Amino acid sequence: MKILLATQKPFAAAAVNGIKKIAEENGHELVLLEKYAEQPYFVAAVADVDAIIVRSDKVTAEVVKAAPKLKIVVRAGAGFDNLDLAACTEAGVVAMNTPGQNSNAVAELAIAMMIFMARTQFTPATGSEIEGKTVGIQAFGNVGRLVGKKAAALGMKVKAIDPFLSSEQIVAGGAEPAASLEELYSSCNYVSIHIPATPQTIKSIGYDLITKMPKGATLVNTARKEVIDEEGLEKALEERPDLKYITDVAPDNLAALQEKFGLRVFATPKKMGAQTSEANVNAGLAAARQICDFFATGNTKFQLNK
Ligand code: 3PG
Repeated sequence: MKILLATQKPFAAAAVNGIKKIAEENGHELVLLEKYAEQPYFVAAVADVDAIIVRSDKVTAEVVKAAPKLKIVVRAGAGFDNLDLAACTEAGVVAMNTPGQNSNAVAELAIAMMIFMARTQFTPATGSEIEGKTVGIQAFGNVGRLVGKKAAALGMKVKAIDPFLSSEQIVAGGAEPAASLEELYSSCNYVSIHIPATPQTIKSIGYDLITKMPKGATLVNTARKEVIDEEGLEKALEERPDLKYITDVAPDNLAALQEKFGLRVFATPKKMGAQTSEANVNAGLAAARQICDFFATGNTKFQLNK
């Protein structure tokens, strides 16, 4: 079978070599499309492939249609808002992700972001310490739980909320359950966002929630830019000169935010939460194994479009 690794933001060489080795050991061929400039290059590369591995690359209906031999797509990572699941289902293509494989990298970045903002973006201005502060974790999944564990080890108090978990499960994960989202935002010095981008969550965090945060609070977004209502965020930062926002997913209004709010806002130049060699290897190799296993045994354990 022919497996295409399509990554506009390439994996570390160790991951690419590992994926190739797994594919070849299982009798498959790996072809690469890395750092492609525009979507049409991706569409043009799928004509004769049986499987595709992607990161945040967009597997649109057009991609699926252009790949008549396609049987499986694996998003090497967690969030699958870049996959058109309906188009995959319609074409009989199995879509999977690799949950948990890059979570530690994202969790470490969330912690680093809290410290970076507490220490005024590493400028000489007087900062603050995160020890003794409270972090609120919005969605206590693979990444959220790791952020909680690391934050607790640094002496922070950890609260969490997750619509899919009971209070007992949150306590078992080492956090205090928040009674509501409003309570989480109003009681935490830091809120770390770990929700996926879905029709229910898009633009769900805006003025009302952000202005509930206590004096001097920081909102940390290593999830998706789409979950923020950017106008609401801007208004909140305008009205509350004590609040800060740091994000791994630059908002569309970044230039305006940075001009207006200076060191109170920071965005990474390119999404980097999962950009560690370890995360690339973990997610990339898991994707390759899932594809080989699917072709060998029909295993659909991580199928998203069941
Ligand atoms: C994910 O959903 O797994 C992360 O956002 C990582 O995305 P990336 O592979 O594009 O870096």
